[in-house]
Amino acid sequence: MIPVVATIEEIRQSVRNARSNGRTVGLVPTMGALHEGHVRLIRACREAADFVVVSIFVNPTQFGPHEDYSRYPRTLDDDLRRCSEGGTSVIFAPTVEAMYPTGSLSTYVEVPGLSDILEGASRPGHFRGVATVVLKLLNIVGPDLAYFGEKDFQQLLVIRRMAADLDLPVVIRGVPTVREADGLAMSSRNRYLGPEERKAAAVLSGALREAVAAVSAGERSTGRVRQILRSRIESEYRARIDYAEVADATTLQPLDEVGGNRRAVALLAVRVGPARLIDNALLPEVSDADQVAEKQTPPGGRHGE
Ligand code: PAF
Repeated sequence: MIPVVATIEEIRQSVRNARSNGRTVGLVPTMGALHEGHVRLIRACREAADFVVVSIFVNPTQFGPHEDYSRYPRTLDDDLRRCSEGGTSVIFAPTVEAMYPTGSLSTYVEVPGLSDILEGASRPGHFRGVATVVLKLLNIVGPDLAYFGEKDFQQLLVIRRMAADLDLPVVIRGVPTVREADGLAMSSRNRYLGPEERKAAAVLSGALREAVAAVSAGERSTGRVRQILRSRIESEYRARIDYAEVADATTLQPLDEVGGNRRAVALLAVRVGPARLIDNALLPEVSDADQVAEKQTPPGGRHGE
């Protein structure tokens, strides 16, 4: 049985014991409702670190007042099974009182620029809550490495930036999104979907695949890639777009064109029934050589050459 500890003192003691035996420490922060995507994070962490802490904490400060904090799935028994599949050493499952003893904080972490666009514009205060709780967890556990899913692309950028700006002595690693057979990105919120909504939700990954295929076939205009994303999602009447954007994969700033030295990412937030789902895909790299060749290609292509 994996030990489950609920207090900051206990998890610190547990990590101290591991370190006194010379072990390296990894952290996988989660909000529970674990699925195969989390198991991959835990496995990746286990491959790199001797001692793996999984935190399970539904963090109230990253939910807006009308969001799903109270109905967010809490499935501790099933989570324990998933944690043991992945090779967890100890689970840290604090109460809200343990993390926020006075009910609120006076100190918060903000990552302006990255935090207030896209997901941050739709969910004001969300990344402040995420960055602050992640910093608290990193301070409590003191891991050498910490693992996050690439499905939450913007969250990963925010955390990497915070760690770099604050010289945190931890390596932040991202792990690729795990998908269902029809392409739907695994997410704890997929549990909100009824059977018909579940089928409709495959439209997100379908739209991303079309965007990637268009760039592979030579599309360079981010406006047209955005239109491809929107048309595909709008073809599904159960889906309502929150945003469908193409942005610089490092800064998340808007881009006019795919290519140059900057990698582009397509990012989606879409409501399907009661669930708000997010997904993303890096668009294929377009080298300078490809772009020069395209610019030199005469109208009508090279067929007549
Ligand atoms: O991605 C999540 O599950 C949460 O945002 C995190 C990183 C555990 C912080 O609460």
